[in-house]
Parts: sequence; structure tokens; C-alpha cells
Amino acid sequence: MDMNSPCWLLLLLLGAFAIIRSVGAQDQLGFISLDCGLPVSEPSSYIESVTGLRFSSDAEFIQTGKTSKIQANMENDYLKPYTRLRYFPDERRNCYSLSVDKGRKYLIRAGFIYGNYDGLNSDPIFDLHLGPNLWATIDLQKFVNGTIEEILHTPTSNSLQVCLVKNGTTTPLISALELRPLGNNSSYQTESGSLNLLVRMYLNKTDGFLRYPDDIYDRRWRNYFLTGWTQISTTLEVSNDNSNYNPPKKAFVTAATPSNASAPLTISWTSDSPADQYYLYSHFAEIQDLQSNGTREFDILWDGVVVTEAFIPAKLVTGTIYNYSPVTCKDGKCSYQLIKTPRSTLPPLLNALEIYTVIQFPQSETNEDDVVAVKNIKAAYGLTRIRWQGDPCVPQKYVWDGLNCSNTDIYTPPRITSLNLSSSGLTGTIAAAIQNRTKLEKLDLSNNTLTGVVPEFLAQMKSLVIINLSGSDLNGSLPQALQRNGLELLVEGNPRLCLSGYCTENSKKKFPVVIVASVGSVAIIVAVLVLIFVLNKKKPSTVEALQPPLSTPTVNDVYDNSSEQLIGTKKRRFTYSEVMKMTNNFQRVVGEGGFGVVCHGTLNGSKQVAVKVLSQSSSQGYKHFKAEVDLLLRVHHTNLVSLVGYCDEGDHLALIYEFMPNGDLREHLSGKRGGSFINWGNRLRIALEAALGLEYLHSGCIPPFVHRDIKTTNILLDDQLKAKLADFGLSRSFPVGGETHISTVVAGTPGYLDPEYYQTTRLGEKSDVYSFGIVLLEMITNQPVIDQSREKSHISQWVGYELNRGDITKIMDPKLHRDYDSRSVWRVLELAMSCANPSSVNRPNMSQVANELKECLVSENARGNTNMDFQRSPEVSMSYDTEMFPRAR
Ligand SMILES: *[C@@H]1O[C@H](CO)[C@@H](O)[C@H](O)[C@H]1NC(C)=O
Ligand SMILES: *[C@@H]1O[C@H](CO)[C@@H](O)[C@H](O)[C@H]1NC(C)=O
Ligand SMILES: *[C@@H]1O[C@H](CO)[C@@H](O)[C@H](O)[C@H]1NC(C)=O
Ligand SMILES: *[C@@H]1O[C@H](CO)[C@@H](O)[C@H](O)[C@H]1NC(C)=O
Ligand SMILES: *[C@@H]1O[C@H](CO)[C@@H](O)[C@H](O)[C@H]1NC(C)=O
Ligand SMILES: *[C@@H]1O[C@H](CO)[C@@H](O)[C@H](O)[C@H]1NC(C)=O
Ligand SMILES: *[C@@H]1O[C@H](CO)[C@@H](O)[C@H](O)[C@H]1NC(C)=O
Ligand SMILES: *[C@@H]1O[C@H](CO)[C@@H](O)[C@H](O)[C@H]1NC(C)=O
Ligand SMILES: *[C@@H]1O[C@H](CO)[C@@H](O)[C@H](O)[C@H]1NC(C)=O
Repeated sequence: MDMNSPCWLLLLLLGAFAIIRSVGAQDQLGFISLDCGLPVSEPSSYIESVTGLRFSSDAEFIQTGKTSKIQANMENDYLKPYTRLRYFPDERRNCYSLSVDKGRKYLIRAGFIYGNYDGLNSDPIFDLHLGPNLWATIDLQKFVNGTIEEILHTPTSNSLQVCLVKNGTTTPLISALELRPLGNNSSYQTESGSLNLLVRMYLNKTDGFLRYPDDIYDRRWRNYFLTGWTQISTTLEVSNDNSNYNPPKKAFVTAATPSNASAPLTISWTSDSPADQYYLYSHFAEIQDLQSNGTREFDILWDGVVVTEAFIPAKLVTGTIYNYSPVTCKDGKCSYQLIKTPRSTLPPLLNALEIYTVIQFPQSETNEDDVVAVKNIKAAYGLTRIRWQGDPCVPQKYVWDGLNCSNTDIYTPPRITSLNLSSSGLTGTIAAAIQNRTKLEKLDLSNNTLTGVVPEFLAQMKSLVIINLSGSDLNGSLPQALQRNGLELLVEGNPRLCLSGYCTENSKKKFPVVIVASVGSVAIIVAVLVLIFVLNKKKPSTVEALQPPLSTPTVNDVYDNSSEQLIGTKKRRFTYSEVMKMTNNFQRVVGEGGFGVVCHGTLNGSKQVAVKVLSQSSSQGYKHFKAEVDLLLRVHHTNLVSLVGYCDEGDHLALIYEFMPNGDLREHLSGKRGGSFINWGNRLRIALEAALGLEYLHSGCIPPFVHRDIKTTNILLDDQLKAKLADFGLSRSFPVGGETHISTVVAGTPGYLDPEYYQTTRLGEKSDVYSFGIVLLEMITNQPVIDQSREKSHISQWVGYELNRGDITKIMDPKLHRDYDSRSVWRVLELAMSCANPSSVNRPNMSQVANELKECLVSENARGNTNMDFQRSPEVSMSYDTEMFPRAR
């Protein structure tokens, strides 16, 4: 006989499908039965008619691939689950991820039928991997009618990856995938490796097959019989209860014996590769009624050599003989024989036989805890990374993007040493799942929208060398434990994140509530402000003890430079003569407001500053001066104009700010500064930066406070055109700048003022949101906030009116030359209109506004049209004058 013919195995495995038998649904013992390519839209599962097992769609076990079915005229040749298939035109490696019990023995079976599903009549060749290891090359050019691979394997983790890998040009596919846990983990043991099925047969002349439910583990058995053999049979029941192999009882109804009793019963085949190692499992039961003088005793020979001597099958009870060590075939010729012993009166008998070759899966899978952790992280952030399939680290060719692994040798499970989820759109908090990554050295979560605090557990991860959390929205204080030697921590661009101690210290202090409750209470608050100012003046150390929000590149840097910074701090308070000197006698006036003039100045001969001089005649101004100093000393954010120092000498009061050489947003919009840079992308960025500054005032400060005078002239641009909010604290009850004010008690600027203020006379955070909405509308339309010549004089009414007519080009600033993504414009328009909602409860808060703007900016930047000079991300470009703010001691 020749078992080497390709169709022999095929017939053995596939021929069975022609027979249909009806079986009721059974206890399924943890079976996984996938009909690959079965659409979820149809009933996503069905009872397969041969086995009565429920087959389901594979969709939830794999991320990639497309579904199809074999050519219609072939559908009669194959039964379900072999009529559908999933094919993989795009990715190199595509993996099913199945949950299994580690240490349990499984039968794993995968079926592949091309069926000309694509009409190209081109049979593919591709690889099948189990985790990181090659399982088989699926050559459908050789097996044109399809093929099935089956192994007995004990997974080393609780997750099993079955991967279809394109190795060449043809498209991998799969038709069915089945997993069957076996009852005894110690059955089918090998010295090493797993077992790859060559053939599983029962000896019966009648064509047929056995599988579930006759075989409780759903092994597939095919009938087999040769000429020169005689069939014997029984009607009695054979017991398999005591067998660890549980061969199906129906395989023991018949047996083969050699027709010439003294001749051996021989099964032979040729081996593809001389190195193949075999395990054979022969199943026997005596099914004949032996007379008292009858004896059946035989030797089992491998390659002509007796391997089992004088075996006597047990009467009506199954027994299994197998080799403990693998055997090989001499010169590729394999021979298995049973020969009766001289004292035996009866010929040898064989009921059933399984032949396996050893398959090695030498490459260790990635450390299971690492895999679980990275999957949990993936789940926690809802990441849909298409290449995150199969084993994360091996083969190295398919290592997941964003990971680096240690890969000592194939026998050592790789460990994940670096995880880069930068710019991955992560939201929510820093996932707890990260803490189980014990070998992680580098963690990069930068440029995301992570919120919440920096968790303590990062400090417990001793292997960490670099943590990059920059460019997110983290808040709270940094755990002290993280500030250890050897750990580089990058946290820049988290406007609300504070160094350890700062936030808590700040919150313990009773700072004035800035929101003006009513006109009557202004006086009280002003009095409190004055008092605090005086107190602080006497104890400058309390002020200096405060820490700024963290915005330097690394924590270690801040600490290393701390002695340098201390020198700078002492110079925060300036004498009047110093002020005169730095402004060269107030020579260059750059602005004027209700409180006095703003002069350009130079500090230490190089640093440009803006000196705001309080006019001595303005008694109200004096109070505001106090308020502003008090607040500005406590508030620090990259998108707020920072206070460099102040002067408080007798009647001479002055504030010294960082100089903003690029003027205000209004000037840029009006073209006064030359309109070259102010394209849509830059407008978005400026809007976002201003929003971040305002968000910080609302939610990053303790106590939070309200700007009260958001408008385009209060958004200033520094030398890098970064936007910063100015003049907060100034507008308490006092209109600023050249605008006419409505009444002496109204804060803010007409047009920007929250309409609810007229009823409530209260300005809250949502009033700033309203004003910010107006600013956004100005940035979109470049129209005056109030223009009596328009159909609708107020900008929000006008935009609403035009929006109803559905044409945004009419609304848009013509200076943008239609160079924008209209989806992002629509989003910002909607955002602006919701901010400018007349009812405060319907307005978003600034965090929502900032997030929305961030997303718009990301998509605008992705469009790739942004002027490169200004294509910088607002959250990663933070810089502040560390000179002024020492570390708390
Ligand atoms: C495929 O099936 C057809 C029809 O059953 C048969 O004629 C042919 O020999 C088979 N081919 C192989 C390689 O088994
Ligand atoms: C096989 O191993 C698995 C996992 O160790 C265990 O849960 C199961 O009970 C074992 N089965 C048998 C029959 O020993
Ligand atoms: C993949 O293809 C290359 C060349 O075609 C071959 O050398 C290599 O052995 C193949 N790998 C596997 C795992 O089949
Ligand atoms: C599993 O089989 C081994 C021998 O194959 C046997 O020693 C062991 O008792 C069996 N375990 C169970 C749980 O049946
Ligand atoms: C084996 O052969 C007998 C007849 O010799 C038949 O009745 C029986 O159904 C066959 N068993 C299987 C499982 O095909
Ligand atoms: C039966 O087999 C024995 C041993 O192989 C052989 O010597 C004998 O000639 C055979 N008898 C017949 C009738 O073929
Ligand atoms: C065994 O006994 C039966 C009758 O019981 C007889 O026909 C047969 O020849 C005996 N066989 C041998 C080998 O003695
Ligand atoms: C930040 O992430 C966005 C996508 O989320 C990306 O477009 C942008 O280039 C990233 N910026 C930096 C500085 O990495
Ligand atoms: C970390 O691992 C332990 C055990 O390995 C587990 O109990 C715990 O739930 C894991 N924590 C997270 C957050 O995954």
C-alpha cells in the first residue's frame, strides 16, 4: 500500500463530508468550532449536521481578513463548514486569538479549501503559524481539493494564536478552525514537541468515518482495509472506560487479521523526510470468542524489529500500545507489523491505529504576563492596531509596532522592554494594566489626551528608565517616588500637572474667590485682596515657596538647576528706579488701558518685558493691581502671559510681564500685522492654546477663577506665535482698554459679555466660555463682533442666520481662500455656536472645548496643508521662565 499519495490523506479526512447523519446537540466539552468567513449577519452559528456541534462565525476571534464562499458549482462537493472562507489580502500575518487552558492538551484542526472563491483559478500557497512558530505550509496547488492540518498540542499560555501568514504572493485563506480539549493531559505524550496527525484509521471494510459524538474528543477516524486481510467483527459492546485514550467504541466492532494466519499484518508507507519522528498509537480489543484452547498473541514490529513482545489483546476491552520515544524510518521506508507468536493459535488483530509525526514549536512565546498586560492596555484604550495580532515579540519580523522586546534565545520567553503609545489618541487615565509590565524599561505615552493623575505604581516599576508622559492632560501632583535617580521622566505639556507639593500646598491656603458674586460683595473682596497683598508683601517667602505647574522637559532638570533659579527669584520685586531704568524712563509706550500705560522694557539688558504702570490717579486701578499681582504670582501656564515681577513702592505700582512681540490676535486677523501666517491651521492652534490657558484658569487653579474678559485683543502672541491669554484679574469691575463700557458695574467687553449677566449680574466660568465662543466666531469669520450694518448685528446671531442658509463659504473669512477642511470648520463652527449659546447650561466647559479643538487640529494637521513653520503642537512646545520659580524646599 502507498500512504504517501496526496489524495490518500485527503480522502481520509475530507471524504467523510459526503455522509450526512443527524445527531442531536451534545454536551460540547469546551469545543471551539469556527466556520471561518461565516458572516455575523446571517445566523452567526448553526448546528453542523454530521456532528451536531454548533459552528459559529469566526468574526470575533480575528481582526483582519475578508469573507467569501467557494464557487457555487462546488458547493455540493463540500459540506459546511467548508463552503465559506476568510481570506487575507492585506496584512502579512493574520491571527486568530483563542482562549484556552494553559497546560491542557488540545486537538487543533484547521481546514483550507480554495474553491476558486475569487474566480481566478489560482490555488494559493501560504504558511500556517501557531503562535510564533511555523506549523505548516499550506500548499493548495498540491492539494487542489483542500487540506486539513491537525495537531495535538498543549498551549503554554491561556491564549492560542493561529496565524495565516503570506509568504510569497498568494493570498492566505482558511475555511474552518476547531479546538477540542482532550480528557487526559498526560495522554499522547512526547519526549518533546507536539503531534502532527498523519493518519487515524479504524479497520473496517465498509467505507465510513467516525468522529463526534462517537469519538468524545471529535478525533476523525477513517475506515481502512487492505486485500490480504480478513475482517472479523462482533455484536458485543466493547468497553473503553478504562482507557486514557477513549477510542470510539464503534471502531472496535470490526478488526483486521491477516488472511494467512502465519503471515504478518503489515502497514507501510514512505516518509517525506528521513528525519521525521513518529509516534504510533495502536488500539486493540479481542472481539472474537476464543475457545478454551485458543490463544491470540503477537509481536509488534517497527522497521522489522520487535518493539512489543507477546501482546495479548484484552477481551472486549480497549487497550492502546504506543511508543514512549519517537521512532524514525530507515531510508524513508516505514513499516509497522504484527506477527503472531509461535504459541499463538490465532493470527494477530488490529482494530484501530493512529500515526503522528513530531512537530517542534521551539520558539518560546512572549512572557505571558507581558502579553496579558499589553492586551489589557490595548483594551483599556480601545486601540485598534491592525498589526497587534499574534505573538507581540516573535517572530521578530512581525513584532508589534510600538514594542521592543528582549530576545535572548528561542527557549527564553521574550519580554517586552519598551512600549511606545505616543500619538495614539489615548484618552482616560494611565491604565493600571501597565503596572504588571515588570521588565518595561521605556514607556512612551506622549502626545495623547490622558487625564487624571500620574499613578504611584509607575514608581514601583523598578526597571523603568524613561517615562514620557508629555503632551497630555494629566493633573494633580507628581508622585514623589517617581523622582528617583536613573529615571528620566518627561512630563512637559501637561498644563495642569504640578510638581509634588505644589497643588496641596496651594489648596490649603485660603485664596480669594475671584468670581464676583454680586456688585455689593466687590468691596469686601477688594478689601480681602488688599489685605492678602499686604500680608504677602511682608512675607515674600510664602509666595516664593510656591511651585509653578510643571512644564519643564524633565523633572531632573528642574532639580539640577534649582540653585540657579533661586538667584532669579530674588529679583521678582523691583524698585521704582529699576523700573524707570528698564523702561528707559517709560520711553516706548506700546499700549494704553484704563489702568494706565504699558511700556516696553529690557531686563538685565536682554530680556524684553512689558511694564504695565498703574496710573496713580486711578484708585480703582490700585485694587486691581493688587488683585492681579496676587493671582499672577500663583498662576502659571504656558498659555497665560507670565508675570516676571512687580514694583510696589509707595504710590508707584507696576507689573512687569513677559513681552509679547507679536501683538494680539485682533491685529493679526485685521491684517494690521500682515496676514501671512494666520491660515486655518494656525487659527486652530491659537484657539486651542487660548482654550488651554482658559481651561487652566477654570480647572487647574485652586481656587478656580474666571477671566471675565476673553476677547481677541486679550490673546497675545509671543515670538514663536504661541498664544497666551493676557489681562486676567484686571476686569473685576473695571472695563479695560479703549472699549466703551456699558455701565460702571459691568465687567468685560460688549459683544463678548455673557447675555445671562444682564439677569444674574454674575460672571462664572460659563461666561468665559461664551466669550471664547465669540472669539472662535471671530476667528472663523473675521467679522466685527458687533456690526449694525449687518442683517443681524451681533456676530453669533449673524452666523446662526447664515448657517440656517447652509452655506459656510459666506461665513468664512475670505482671507482663508477656502484653504481648509470644511469638516473641521463645521466642527469648530458648531463648537463656537454651542459656546455662544445664550443659556449657560447648554455651553460646554473649557476642557470639552479644548479637547474638541485638539481633535480638529490633529485632523487639520493630518491634511498636511499647514504652513510648516508653524506646525507645532501646542502641548509639546511649552516653555516658561524657570528663573523666576524656584523649587520648594
Ligand atoms: C480532487 O477531486 C476530484 C473530484 O473528486 C478528483 O477527480 C481529483 O483526483 C482530486 N484531486 C486530488 C489531487 O486529490
Ligand atoms: C488538564 O490541565 C488543565 C490545566 O492544567 C486542567 O484544568 C485540567 O483539569 C486537566 N485535565 C485533566 C483531565 O487532568
Ligand atoms: C518563505 O518563503 C521563502 C522564499 O520563498 C522561503 O525561503 C522560506 O522558507 C519560507 N518560509 C516559510 C516559513 O515557509
Ligand atoms: C491520564 O493518563 C495517565 C496515563 O496515560 C494516567 O496515569 C493518569 O491517571 C490519567 N489521568 C487522569 C486524570 O485520567
Ligand atoms: C463496520 O463494518 C460493519 C460491517 O462489516 C458495519 O455494519 C459497520 O457499520 C461498520 N462500522 C462503521 C463505523 O462504519
Ligand atoms: C503464509 O505465510 C507464510 C509466512 O509468510 C508463508 O510461508 C506461506 O507460504 C503463506 N501461505 C500461503 C498459502 O500464502
Ligand atoms: C480447539 O478446540 C476446538 C474444539 O473445541 C477444535 O475444533 C480445534 O481444533 C482446537 N484447536 C487446537 C489448535 O487445538
Ligand atoms: C501628536 O499626535 C497626532 C495624532 O494623534 C499627530 O498627528 C501629531 O503629529 C503628534 N505630534 C507629535 C509632536 O508627535
Ligand atoms: C497584575 O497581575 C496580577 C497577577 O499576575 C493580577 O492579579 C492583577 O490583576 C494584574 N493587575 C492588572 C492591573 O492587570
